[in-house]
Amino acid sequence: MAKKTIRDLSLKGKKVLVRVDFNVPMKDGVITDENRIVQALPTLRHIIDEGGRAIVFSHLGRIKEPSDQEKNTLQPVATRLGELLEKNVTFVPVTRGKALEDAVNQLKDGDILMFENTRFEDLDGKKESKNNPELGAYWASLGDVFVNDAFGTAHREHASNVGISSNIGTTVAGFLLEKEIRFIGGTLEAPERPLVAILGGAKVSDKINVIKNLLNVADKVLIGGGMAYTFFKALGYDVGTSLLEADKVDLAKELLDLAGGKILLGTDVVTAKTFDPDSEKNIRPVDGIPADEMGMDIGPETRELFKKAILEAKTVIWNGPLGVFEFERFAEGTKTIATVIASMKSTATTIIGGGDSAAAVIGFGLEDDFTHISTGGGASLEYFEGKTLPGIQCVDER
Ligand code: 3PG
Repeated sequence: MAKKTIRDLSLKGKKVLVRVDFNVPMKDGVITDENRIVQALPTLRHIIDEGGRAIVFSHLGRIKEPSDQEKNTLQPVATRLGELLEKNVTFVPVTRGKALEDAVNQLKDGDILMFENTRFEDLDGKKESKNNPELGAYWASLGDVFVNDAFGTAHREHASNVGISSNIGTTVAGFLLEKEIRFIGGTLEAPERPLVAILGGAKVSDKINVIKNLLNVADKVLIGGGMAYTFFKALGYDVGTSLLEADKVDLAKELLDLAGGKILLGTDVVTAKTFDPDSEKNIRPVDGIPADEMGMDIGPETRELFKKAILEAKTVIWNGPLGVFEFERFAEGTKTIATVIASMKSTATTIIGGGDSAAAVIGFGLEDDFTHISTGGGASLEYFEGKTLPGIQCVDER
């Protein structure tokens, strides 16, 4: 990898600015999935152990009006971070000013503080999200070096990543960002073949550029989930009341032509009459979906077809569930594919995109059985599209 990392820095006595992505799901002030915090711990532990003075910050949610602040304070996240690190994390409830500067100046080697949600600055002319130059320069002035470890935010050009980087001498990748670059970027550049990509999720429109890019890179692209029905329609089948993007049928035809046989769609689907966890399920061939039924999952024959293709791979990329996995009855396709990929840990590189597929494998308790589960939702999608991500571009080259 051509980027500098935290390993390249001497940290002792340095004020180390660390951008993490702690935009974690919360319910009533309680964190419901702490994976992003856990994934950032190696970087933070390294800074502390090396005697750096860590100044940690993140966004949380979107801040459009003052009433958004209370539910998006990072206070509970800082508390949880302290518990996970088994160390006091000083929480500074502002994003700038004397209280923050004093707290930074009081840090001793190995100490850590976290300041408030960077997007609180969006209340004043979207300063964070529009990469206001004064804000980036101000945050940069608080530290000696900048460690970007926020892969989840790497597709954003904000003051707290790109803005700081353009106002400080040294920007390096933390361990998490390094890992995401190595596994996603490295795999797309030089995969061990065969590379099989599995794409699911509701909409073709969300994944057009991912499909196009993966058709260039992958040996096979397996398509399931809601978006498969637009492809079935493109093949001339009736899809009943299944999810369908009627305005994308022509595009699906184009993608099938472009694919030259690389796209594998299923042969059967699990259907139901209503979108309901207890709805009775039927198995239908893809060219025999009744007018009053909707596709909810890939069928048993498709599971076997996909399984065979996946087991031949040396590299697997998976993004998007293959059915309505939130309903136990319709989770079998997604679960089977997750289990098959998990069984290949020692024989293939297996990469799971962030968002729903990551939530699915974590829900199935399989999170330790993959080479890499991305912490980025939108960021991993844009990376799979082959885009240059500003949050990676701003890291110094080696
Ligand atoms: C994410 O959860 O995808 C990132 O934290 C980015 O959040 P955003 O979409 O609000 O910029």
